[in-house]
Amino acid sequence: MKSTANFLFIAAFALSGAPLFAAHELDGRDISAGRVLYADNCASCHGDNLEGEPNWRTPKDDGTLPAPPHDQTGHTWHHDNAMLFDYTRLGGQAFLDARGVRFKSAMPGFAEMLSDEDIWNVLAFIRSTWPERVQEMHVMRNPPHN
Ligand code: HEC
Repeated sequence: MKSTANFLFIAAFALSGAPLFAAHELDGRDISAGRVLYADNCASCHGDNLEGEPNWRTPKDDGTLPAPPHDQTGHTWHHDNAMLFDYTRLGGQAFLDARGVRFKSAMPGFAEMLSDEDIWNVLAFIRSTWPERVQEMHVMRNPPHN
């Protein structure tokens, strides 16, 4: 059922002549700037090679989780762009509190340190490291929108 709906959705776009995944926020970003911003702001926790902290699925003594990898072994690519952006800008605590999720987050917010453009560049850099197959799966989580 779901796949039929998806098929119709995609077919409708193909017929309308619009680009299949228009307005994709991560397209046309500055990947080299994103790489530098990642090294300066994210690598200390998420790893120089996006590998995350060891045993990232096991909570620490204080109840927080270690930083997950941003490479294809993590779950970053499972999330749509808006979620990744908001989580980075607001930080985990504010993001989850706003949704009524009770969780102690160790992910800081970057609204004070990074511009919106900086954040998109970092996320575009992260995506650029994924194999094509994973990038395609991520695109499917970002349906066309304005
Ligand atoms: C002080 C350590 C720390 C720093 C620095 C940090 N993070 Fe995180 N991040 C975490 C932790 C820990 C989590 C796991 C979830 C939580 O605790 O909220 C996380 C989760 C995330 C998530 C949601 C989970 C996922 O895989 O999609 C995103 C997106 C994210 N971080 C992006 C970034 C980006 C981009 C930067 C740099 C601009 C960054 N983080 C810097 C600790 C950090």
